[in-house]
Amino acid sequence: MIQFLLNDQLITLEQIDTNTTVLDYLRLHRQQTGTKEGCASGDCGACTVVLGELNEAQTGLQYRAINSCITLLGALQGKQLITVECLAGERLHPVQQTMVDCHGSQCGFCTPGFVMSLFAMWKQQPKPSHEHIDLALGGNLCRCTGYQPIIKAAQALGEYATDDTFSANAQTTRQALKALQPASHLALSYQQQQYFLPHTRAELAELCLHYPDARLVAGSTDLALEITQNLKELPCLIGVNQVQDMQQLDVLAEKIIIGAARPYSDCMEVIHTYYPAFAAMMQRLGSTQIRNQGTFGGNIGTASPIGDTLPVLLALNAEVELQKGEHIRLVNLNDYFTGYRKTVLEKGEFIAAVHIPRLQAQQVLMVDKVSKRFDDDISAVCAAWVLTLNNNVIECARSGYGGMAATPARALNAEQALIGKPLDHTTIQAAQQALAHDFKPMSDVRASSWYRMMVAQNLLERMSLSVHQPA
Ligand SMILES: Cc1cc2nc3c(=O)[nH]c(=O)nc-3n(C[C@H](O)[C@H](O)[C@H](O)COP(=O)(O)OP(=O)(O)OC[C@H]3O[C@@H](n4cnc5c(N)ncnc54)[C@H](O)[C@@H]3O)c2cc1C
Ligand code: FES
Ligand code: FES
Repeated sequence: MIQFLLNDQLITLEQIDTNTTVLDYLRLHRQQTGTKEGCASGDCGACTVVLGELNEAQTGLQYRAINSCITLLGALQGKQLITVECLAGERLHPVQQTMVDCHGSQCGFCTPGFVMSLFAMWKQQPKPSHEHIDLALGGNLCRCTGYQPIIKAAQALGEYATDDTFSANAQTTRQALKALQPASHLALSYQQQQYFLPHTRAELAELCLHYPDARLVAGSTDLALEITQNLKELPCLIGVNQVQDMQQLDVLAEKIIIGAARPYSDCMEVIHTYYPAFAAMMQRLGSTQIRNQGTFGGNIGTASPIGDTLPVLLALNAEVELQKGEHIRLVNLNDYFTGYRKTVLEKGEFIAAVHIPRLQAQQVLMVDKVSKRFDDDISAVCAAWVLTLNNNVIECARSGYGGMAATPARALNAEQALIGKPLDHTTIQAAQQALAHDFKPMSDVRASSWYRMMVAQNLLERMSLSVHQPA
């Protein structure tokens, strides 16, 4: 059984197709058709809804935009699902009113998604800056007249009321959410399907051993595409988002440990503090909606050659903490990938956390993501380097590249060409030549092999420039 609030109505679900997305639940089961379906793959934002939930301290509420088309029902346990139908009371909500006043509704079809993204932003930033607006709208696609009136509407928000019925009802909502039953282990079932929601790592470990063929669900921003795009049925699912001891974010003297189930949005502040170049790239990983759901554990779980955190974690010499039953092992990420989307992860084993070494005083981290579009786009090439510099001599160099091979991989020849040399034009040229022996990238819709190699080589020059001429 799972329980959640649909706007302010308590919903209890038990017997329902466990592969149902929140979008289909709203439109087909509840006939709430204000939430639209555009792409069903997380790319357009038409299906944006907002999840209200208790904050970490359980003292307040936080509101986050998500793509309902790639969110499975199990993710709703203990949360408030807010849809466009309930924003207006006797009057339009401020984010709706500003869209009307600034002529931002345009085509009308994608408008509910824009409104919900703006609503989530406004709950955090009633007077948003340009940056807040760009980030909030990065996952909402407008294909008609353009973003200008929508951005104007967002900029005008500061002139409207700063409270709404959600703030007026906050205490009642908090109490209602606190009173929701924790999901039972077998949260949802339907015919032969099962969806488990364990609460602890120990329970998760037991379930993984018992159901070694089950699929783990973290943010489902990758997994759900198998359902919505490949039309697969996933009969046995184990959700990790209720596992509290996989949500940790521990800043230790030597390293930072991030629980596999912690959404990216909840890591950004710490990543920004300790690895600013990583944070800058992560702001371009998917969209706000994707970062509100997606996790490091899921990115490592995909083992995708274009997973954006993976090159950076390789360069930082990160380790993954794996657990099978009671046995826990740490595997260096470099030894984790065994082939295209293949890893050392055994049946019944799961990713519990990622351990990321802290940067030393003389180390610099550089990260570059090259894609066709700035926001919400898959990398053609993602490159990361950690250099240890002593008086401009490179004492140590460690890299990670995405988009260049069947797995995220280090450029070992290029690393050797850099180590022990001054960071100058001659060294970079030698490293560029060495890099040509590291990879034979493929051509696909995103980029040709030639382009990928050229970009990867040019990024070495950029790395040198970013050390010597950061401006
Ligand atoms: C519109 C859109 C844009 C995207 N943009 C980017 C991008 O810019 N860069 C990028 O790198 N990715 C991108 N992605 C892909 C995806 O968002 C990321 O890979 C994300 O990190 C996946 O995390 P998740 O928690 O949603 O994983 P899920 O989808 O829940 O899981 C992904 C895989 O990992 C497995 N898994 C999950 N948790 C565990 C665990 N604890 N142990 C073992 N296996 C586990 C699952 O079974 C599944 O096979 C995008 C996706 C979409 C839909
Ligand atoms: S329908 Fe396009 S993001 Fe969900
Ligand atoms: S406002 Fe809907 S496509 Fe532009």
